[in-house]
Amino acid sequence: MAEKSPAADVEAGLLAHLNSTGEVPDSRAFASSLGVSHLELEGVIKSLSAFRIVDSTDIIKETWVLTDEAKGYAARGSPEAQLVAAIPPEGASKDALKAKLGDAFDVGMKAAARNKWIGFEKGNKDLVLRKVENVEDELQEQLKRLENGEVVPDKVIDDLKRRKLITKEKSIWYSLKKGPEFVVKRKTLATDVTTEHLRSGDWKDLEFKDYNYGAQGQPIAKGYVQPLMEVREAIENIFIMMGFTEMPTNNFVESSFWNFDALFQPQQHPARDSHDTFFLKAPAATSQLPEDYLEKVKQVHQSGGYGSKGYGYDWKRDEAEKNLLRTHTTAVSTRILYKLAQEKPFAPKRYYSIDRVFRNEAVDRTHLAEFHQIEGLICDYGLTLGDLIGVLEDFFSSLGMSKLRFKPAYNPYTEPSMEIFSYHDGLKKWVEVGNSGMFRPEMLLPMGLPEGVNVIAWGLSLERPTMILYGIDNIRDLFGPKVDFNLIKSNPLCRLGL
Ligand code: PHE
Repeated sequence: MAEKSPAADVEAGLLAHLNSTGEVPDSRAFASSLGVSHLELEGVIKSLSAFRIVDSTDIIKETWVLTDEAKGYAARGSPEAQLVAAIPPEGASKDALKAKLGDAFDVGMKAAARNKWIGFEKGNKDLVLRKVENVEDELQEQLKRLENGEVVPDKVIDDLKRRKLITKEKSIWYSLKKGPEFVVKRKTLATDVTTEHLRSGDWKDLEFKDYNYGAQGQPIAKGYVQPLMEVREAIENIFIMMGFTEMPTNNFVESSFWNFDALFQPQQHPARDSHDTFFLKAPAATSQLPEDYLEKVKQVHQSGGYGSKGYGYDWKRDEAEKNLLRTHTTAVSTRILYKLAQEKPFAPKRYYSIDRVFRNEAVDRTHLAEFHQIEGLICDYGLTLGDLIGVLEDFFSSLGMSKLRFKPAYNPYTEPSMEIFSYHDGLKKWVEVGNSGMFRPEMLLPMGLPEGVNVIAWGLSLERPTMILYGIDNIRDLFGPKVDFNLIKSNPLCRLGL
């Protein structure tokens, strides 16, 4: 048997009353006759109404309730009465009274003066004298009456309103009658057959509660996928559908050679400054660079070749050997293109990568010092800018961005270069979504790729589309130590516009 709860007592009391008198005209009065709060009775009424055991009608009334300040006065007396009570026969200094009354001092002084309960000695405004023996604390009386739900005159209400001691509140209570399913005692339905029931045989007489087939099960505890990883996988699937193979991105540490020099990025380029790039202290330099190729890279920077004039500066090996945290995944693309160039005969390829890159940036709502780059490239004979535009349109429309625009741009390693913009329906504007171009001959020919082979390539961040897709406007809510686990737990499946 379930233990008898206070709610069960309230229910029994209510049903017994309805059984004998047929109605409860005012649930609030009834609650106080039972000695329980109206809230408690309300719970019982709701449950009984749901089973149509009682019929309830709402009674909505606006009542005056005491503010916290007024509740204090109802308990301890009005400030003016407290003030008078605090004055000894010989009088008291204002400071002493202030210390005793605290917040109530100012109001108490004013009201007590108005009532002529206090006065001052001639020439001494600091000594407060008491002018009456006993005061009748009418304010406290009225507040107590209001608190007990008793009626007070309108004039008093106006006065309390003016002093901001009461506020209007809507309250709801009920009048009750027997419902169509009225019973004096609710049958408790069994939910389980226990060994006890089987032993005693009383299961034969039990009434069982219906199964609720609509009830939801407990959520299953399982792992959750971070939104970035969700979008990463979706993008990976697009690349794979388009026939791309993944490049190995497993080295965050890269040499300046592969990150910059091999990309025909001059050694005095501002991106190679420590304000933009994280250089390693230990090991500060790499000792392994392909010598033949390095020599060709040096030549093309210094004096050109392959139809180029080069940059005409004194190329330094030290600079190329400096280790850094890769600033773009184009370093990975460069390595793989060099490897591809060594394989004879040449075979066309499509490659992609998605991994982390690092930049010495000031962190703000849209920038972190580390983020993920997505990069794709196609290497084949006779590719044109038209091919690049076509591939970008295929790729981005798979991501749900079908309105694209291109803007001429500059990268040391591509010519021509284009920034990619997509029209964002939600933001109602064109947003930059990536960068692209055709790798320069000064980059490809020293690697040993055959004449006539072009590489079209593009890169974008993973964070940007993820933020747009998930409506996140601060990158720190998506990545890093401030990510809220609930964001990950409630992360919906990511379906791109495939
Ligand atoms: N590396 C470029 C960046 O970091 C992206 C890019 C990749 C541009 C390939 C052109 C070609 O923004």
